[in-house]
Amino acid sequence: MSIIKLLTKKFERTIFTTPSHNQKPIFSKEYNGLYKHDFSEIEGFDNLSNPVNSILMAQGKASDILKTKQTFFVTQGSTTAILAAMKTLINPIDKVLVARNCHKSVYNGLILTAGMVDWFMPEKDEKWGIYTTIDPKKLESTLELNQYKVFIMTSPTYEGINSNIAEISNVCKKHDVYLIVDEAHGALYNFSEKLPKTAIEQGADVSVNSLHKTAGALNQTAVLNISANIKNFSSTSFQNSLNLFQTSSPSYPLLANIEACFNYLTSKEAKKEIDGLIDEIEKMKSELKRFGVEFYDEENHDPTKILLRKNGISGFDLSDTLFSEFNIEDELNNQNSCLYLTGIGTTKQKLEKLKNALKKIQTNPSFEFENIDFQPYPIVKLQPVNAYNRDFIYVNKNDSLLKISNKMILPYPPGIGLLYPGEAIQKWHLNYLNNDVEIIA
Ligand SMILES: Cc1ncc(COP(=O)(O)O)c(C=O)c1O
Repeated sequence: MSIIKLLTKKFERTIFTTPSHNQKPIFSKEYNGLYKHDFSEIEGFDNLSNPVNSILMAQGKASDILKTKQTFFVTQGSTTAILAAMKTLINPIDKVLVARNCHKSVYNGLILTAGMVDWFMPEKDEKWGIYTTIDPKKLESTLELNQYKVFIMTSPTYEGINSNIAEISNVCKKHDVYLIVDEAHGALYNFSEKLPKTAIEQGADVSVNSLHKTAGALNQTAVLNISANIKNFSSTSFQNSLNLFQTSSPSYPLLANIEACFNYLTSKEAKKEIDGLIDEIEKMKSELKRFGVEFYDEENHDPTKILLRKNGISGFDLSDTLFSEFNIEDELNNQNSCLYLTGIGTTKQKLEKLKNALKKIQTNPSFEFENIDFQPYPIVKLQPVNAYNRDFIYVNKNDSLLKISNKMILPYPPGIGLLYPGEAIQKWHLNYLNNDVEIIA
């Protein structure tokens, strides 16, 4: 029986199990819906840590859809999927190459696995102030220098920029390196020809998708995908790693929501919705270009991520004005640009509202954009595992240069580290630090 049916069938049973709430809100009646289907693994229900029944079937269906060897449902976000992927593939002191624009969960994974990191700098676009692709040639030169076990990268980026995973995967295979692609923002890629191919289809060994980001599912829903071509690792080893990090009381409503999400994504209705959304965004773009709005529009770009700037106004001011005057909140902004995230559930009316507001925004003709500078190549003095939980002291910012930071500088979103514990403080970082700086003693 499907997870959804299990949850929605009529219950005659008297259940003395967790959760104690008896499927009714006692103290937060506003959230009635949350309680109604909130069961644990009672008799007849399946177990996420060792599925044999409904969850196994639903995962199998998702795996067929995504053309994977195994797709695992995750109720704690791509964060947990990334940790489990890393814990499976990385043993202590294995060398790991990580693209610097990876989400902080990858840094956390380095602490938990005791992998030894080298950072790889992605290409960047100074005009927009964003990291772009991984250059396969530069990657190849780096892989020739060291025997890495794993390369971890993000594609699409937060702003929707896709790397050529097919080429990157060939390079990794040639050098016997496992490829993990954080595809948290690419959950819709399997479901429209107007979007790039999935990382798994292009040869990644492992990928993760956050279904809550763009696929219309509830917060925390995600999947971990294992390629049919992965060498030397069984699905069981990934299940074991997931079991290290996942709660022993996973939310059944979230599991049912993941199942329902795939049911929807494979429907004609969803394809129509995604393709229709992309068409609407294209129309909006061509109309707004006449109003001084410029869009990031490279061929490797995911059109559902609307990255724009408007002549005569900084990204920060544009973001503030849209928020204060039009009640419109963006996903992310920088000095030059703003990012609007769309996906399943983004209505035409919502896009209209953004479009009309962008037309009306007042600008200053003398304002000029400046290129954005990027963090320097990190100087790793202590590996993440060795920098974790250390004694620290405070020094004045003026005396902190080249000392080892005990703190992260991590603007969120996007959750990409500008400085991590264990790294030397460079001149570039000083602008981001308070007067008293924590350094490792
Ligand atoms: C690129 C990237 N990877 C992973 C994550 C973590 O995803 P989740 O929130 O599903 O744990 C995020 C969240 O912002 C992200 O942007």
